[in-house]
Amino acid sequence: MSRSNEIRTCLVCTNVDCASRGSAQLLDEITQRLAVAGNSIQVKSYLCFGACQDGPNMVLYPEGTWYMGVQQSDVDEIIAHIQGGEPVSRLTEKVDPALRDLILDILESGMVEI
Ligand code: FES
Repeated sequence: MSRSNEIRTCLVCTNVDCASRGSAQLLDEITQRLAVAGNSIQVKSYLCFGACQDGPNMVLYPEGTWYMGVQQSDVDEIIAHIQGGEPVSRLTEKVDPALRDLILDILESGMVEI
């Protein structure tokens, strides 16, 4: 399926494993940084992407980039990507393509409100 290149939403998992690695702080920082930049992309908490051991996880929707193991030090590059730059490839290398496609299909289906 072809996918839109647009990024409307940044979904950050805030379930237990990702939260224990600082995902709530990542969500707050990305939210603030985008607001300061005047960017209207929404940053939202997500229940769980099913790759808990590799978190913090975040997915850019509908564009489809999944970032794994995100650290505070990665935020600058992620913001740059959201604002039209290149994806941060080192944070996508461990992503299981089948799980990524499943999550994107679930998001696309509307089964989960985002
Ligand atoms: S706890 Fe974050 S992916 Fe499951």
